[in-house]
Amino acid sequence: MTENPEIISFAGGLPNPALFPVQEIAAAAQKVLQNNGHEALQYSTTEGYGPLREYIAQRYARRFGLSVNPAHILITTGSQQGLDLIAKVLLNQGDPVLLERPATWAQFKPFRCNEPTFHTVPLCDDGPDLAILEQILRQQRVKLFYAVPNFQNPSGLTYSAQKRAEVARLLRQHQVIFIEDDPYGELRFKGQPLLSMKQFLPDNIILLGSFSKIVSPALRLGWVYADPETLDKLVVAKQAPTCTPTTWLSAFCTNICAITTWIAISKKSGKPTVASAT
Ligand SMILES: Cc1ncc(COP(=O)(O)O)c(C=O)c1O
Repeated sequence: MTENPEIISFAGGLPNPALFPVQEIAAAAQKVLQNNGHEALQYSTTEGYGPLREYIAQRYARRFGLSVNPAHILITTGSQQGLDLIAKVLLNQGDPVLLERPATWAQFKPFRCNEPTFHTVPLCDDGPDLAILEQILRQQRVKLFYAVPNFQNPSGLTYSAQKRAEVARLLRQHQVIFIEDDPYGELRFKGQPLLSMKQFLPDNIILLGSFSKIVSPALRLGWVYADPETLDKLVVAKQAPTCTPTTWLSAFCTNICAITTWIAISKKSGKPTVASAT
């Protein structure tokens, strides 16, 4: 269905292909192969291409003022692989897992393999229903809560600052690991960006990120940020299926991110334009 040109599918989070930075990607690919081809065509480490991990850490510092150690970032085949690895490493059969309601099939799938017990908390306009969240946390020993606080898929809702603080307080109280998935946070057309949940919950949090919506989903590049102990386990889990992420895609993603900060839509023409780096 997603390949039928007659259908605009809202079933998956497909970006508008007209906004893909095709020229910039072509230029970046050529530059990487010319200047750095031998390194780019080699295996990298399981953790991923160093300069891309550095870039992601710098981006957290720029966006949120968050100090993130690049050594604690793992490059993955899309953030979907990150979620799959997290489920493999953290979940045992029957473990209570909390998801938002509504959620998409893609969010259930990686968890389902480990046969946890699912619980869901409904979303209000400003984030999870706190009374229900508290009730679930009192009744179940929830191991992890996976959520998308910015422009949640499929509802499009964003947690308010106050809700973020209150959710973090409850999770801290009940020692629940929070998985913050943030593929859409930078696609903001108006209003001020909100803080990451990590600012409210410094420990017991794993961050998932993706280049699928800010560069292109075909790169299949995402990342996981986790504490060193969890990261070590994720690295071991990743060695079996993929060993290392693709170096040259990582290299040219780093290159394109270094030369552009934003693929903005021109207010005048409605066409995509590439803003220069800051
Ligand atoms: C909630 C959510 N997380 C992450 C992603 C991106 O996944 P990936 O990085 O695997 O392309 C999407 C894309 O649709 C999404 O809707």
